[in-house]
Amino acid sequence: MEKKIAVIRGDGIGPEIVGEAIGVLDAVAELYGHKFTYDEVDMGGCAIDKWGDPLPQEMLDKCLQSDSVLLGAVGGPKWNSVPGDKRPEKGLLRLRAGMGVYSNNRPAKIWPQLADASPLRPEIVEKGIDFIIVRELIGGIYFGDRKTVEENGEQKAIDTLTYTESEIRRIGRIGFETARKRNKRLCSVEKSNVLDSSRLWKKVMHELAAEYPDVELSDMLVDNCAMQIVKDPAQFDVIVTENMFGDILSDEASMITGSIGMIPSSSLGDSSCGLYEPIHGSAPDIAGKDLSNPTGTILAAAMMLRYSFDMAAEADCIENAVSAVLDEGYRTADIIGSQAAGFKKTGCREMGALIRAHLTKG
Ligand code: IPM
Ligand code: MG
Repeated sequence: MEKKIAVIRGDGIGPEIVGEAIGVLDAVAELYGHKFTYDEVDMGGCAIDKWGDPLPQEMLDKCLQSDSVLLGAVGGPKWNSVPGDKRPEKGLLRLRAGMGVYSNNRPAKIWPQLADASPLRPEIVEKGIDFIIVRELIGGIYFGDRKTVEENGEQKAIDTLTYTESEIRRIGRIGFETARKRNKRLCSVEKSNVLDSSRLWKKVMHELAAEYPDVELSDMLVDNCAMQIVKDPAQFDVIVTENMFGDILSDEASMITGSIGMIPSSSLGDSSCGLYEPIHGSAPDIAGKDLSNPTGTILAAAMMLRYSFDMAAEADCIENAVSAVLDEGYRTADIIGSQAAGFKKTGCREMGALIRAHLTKG
């Protein structure tokens, strides 16, 4: 098969982790007889520096004309003083909206080899951590009107949070469908004790539940959910939630698995063209030092193969290689934990090379 992948290296550690992921994709293409071509896209701080815009229209067009998009990370302190609508993150938000990828899937799964790196107590980790957060990605407070006005001699900032029934219904369906393919438990997370948008969210979820009698739906307030994720993560199978709650909870969920550096994510809409990225940021403090962990991006590339290109065997091949490298005791700095002595410390480039070397056609 031939596939065109739009590649956004971005800022900070973005270029180094994406470089390793492309190395792995090329090795998989070679093994399985596919051809992947790459179209380079500037987005984020590097696009601001080059084009004065975090995502010029022609760059968005390249993404829309691709079979899928692979993204490293964007942003950094260098662009902190840039006005809000021109910040690197704005490029990412425009990309998500432009691609119509309303459903962001963020797995929180512990690798057994990394159980020690979890900050939770062993008896909690032993009960198992394996759930998915389905986050609504192109609505809510991220995309509502915002402005800062002068009122009574001081500044007043306004952000608006809106959701329509149809926006809630389409992400709700993804939540139910995802649960249906797993352990059939869906937890809808909102703040219906305070917010109208959450009350509508809850109502729509319960209407949908009638269409999915095989899935058990529960409701949880977001503050309680934040607590339950650290107290008893084994209770969760699939969580479905709105944009900002999902942003916050998915960082928390990734942390309990031991390393945010290991976690990929997919963002999909109604077409097969998806956006795939690690969930961590651009880590400007370690950029260019060969200290980053490329695994989250490599696993994001595996998700692209699985969900957008229908290449399940190829995706398994990458995930098995990652597991084998961990089995052999190789660890980047972020996942070495407290027992550093027993492990072989690697940098970003070596981690990528090891994963490539462990790819075997199943
Ligand atoms: C994420 C990030 C982004 C978000 C930022 C960079 C805009 O935190 O993907 O979770 O808030 O969605
Ligand atoms: Mg986030």
